[in-house]
Amino acid sequence: MDLYQILMQHHRRTDQIFFIIGKTTAAEARRREQLFTELRRGLEAHNIVEENIFYPELERCSATSELVGDAFDEHAEIDAILQEIAELPTDKDEWPERIAELKVVVQEHVRQEEDRIFPAARNLLDSARAKELGRRMEAMKQQLPWPAGATGSQ
Ligand SMILES: [Fe+2]
Ligand SMILES: [Fe+2]
Repeated sequence: MDLYQILMQHHRRTDQIFFIIGKTTAAEARRREQLFTELRRGLEAHNIVEENIFYPELERCSATSELVGDAFDEHAEIDAILQEIAELPTDKDEWPERIAELKVVVQEHVRQEEDRIFPAARNLLDSARAKELGRRMEAMKQQLPWPAGATGSQ
């Protein structure tokens, strides 16, 4: 798989987890905690992989450096909201409200990546490079708490 396939597979998995969390109720505290842990670990690992393997390839080029600067800011915003939700009780109304807010921020960020950053990257990186970076991502994922099911093969 090349880097885009790996990242998009995880984007879709993240959508699924948000959908499943949206179906839970305040009475399902344990399930909400488990799903949130999977969501958080997955997003944190995903962002680390992008920031260490993918974005550096694009920072060097003036055509993409601004897009990448914004993406780093969005990752920081996602991290901050994850930290705030981690400190909230799952049975309070605020919990699903903050999850819904996080979902909007994550989905907007994913749209930026898939609609703007990936096409720009395809212009810069040839397919051999995209596959090589994909291999490096797979290796890095082994070192991170990448959630089961996120790759479809674990
Ligand atoms: Fe990202
Ligand atoms: Fe991403």
